[in-house]
Amino acid sequence: MRNDLHIRPITPHLGAEVTGIDLRAAPEAMMDTVRTAFADHSVLFFPGQKLSPDELLHVTGRFGEVLLVPYVKGMDSHPDIIAVLKEADEKRISTFGGTWHTDFSFLPEPPDATLLQAVELPPVGGDTIWANQYLAYDSLSAGMQKLLDPLHAVHTGWPHGTMGPGPDAAVSKSIKMTRNDPSADREVLHPVVRIHPVTGRKALFVNPVYTQRFAEMSAAESKPLLDFLHMHCTRPEFQCRLTWRDGMLVMWDNRSTMHLAINDYDGHRRLLHRTTVKGAVPVGV
Ligand code: SIN
Repeated sequence: MRNDLHIRPITPHLGAEVTGIDLRAAPEAMMDTVRTAFADHSVLFFPGQKLSPDELLHVTGRFGEVLLVPYVKGMDSHPDIIAVLKEADEKRISTFGGTWHTDFSFLPEPPDATLLQAVELPPVGGDTIWANQYLAYDSLSAGMQKLLDPLHAVHTGWPHGTMGPGPDAAVSKSIKMTRNDPSADREVLHPVVRIHPVTGRKALFVNPVYTQRFAEMSAAESKPLLDFLHMHCTRPEFQCRLTWRDGMLVMWDNRSTMHLAINDYDGHRRLLHRTTVKGAVPVGV
């Protein structure tokens, strides 16, 4: 593959396609341009990468420290990689990532970034959507921003969405959750508005899977405002969408986006390899 870098925005505010780069071997100066594009666009699509598991780990390491994700079993051969899989015969079930969320926001140090490599795709469907949480914050009224700026919210790994074995979720058996570890259910406080350490911009940081309530408020008291924020955060004009193609690699920023895997491809197998880049304690306003 030639190193002839081209960066093309997908929407005015979120996502860019990056071509003309071999991420395995690109020189550091070119990687710096990609890192700047990542800060500018939050989601990068890299068509035609087709990375083996070892190559995916190597490329992930070029963006930061690879995180061994807790509570989900990695591949036997590569524990740092999660095989995001739904088999063709798994029908009418929840899938991994099938509700709007930010990856593992219930960790004290949620991952900065996630990489996802297409391995086997359904003939049609199984798209992924992201929503820009800078825009979600910026488009709120000054009064609402002032209200939210000092707040913290409680996140826990016990989902009330469809990410895992919650009370009513029949989840793909192809993803091995190991969350019978009570530490996943502990309450972790994060700022509702976080400052991105690279861009300095403010982003909303709540999501319907892991955010339970505002700190020092009951769930019932928190619900009306959280419901509003969850609806607001995913407005279509904040989104970009990927229709996966063979060989596509995607990287997204969990500090400035939420995402959703669309579960519309029953009867077909979908397999992607997923790595994460270690993060830090989110900093509030
Ligand atoms: C995820 O949420 O990490 C999975 C996204 C996808 O399968 O498209």
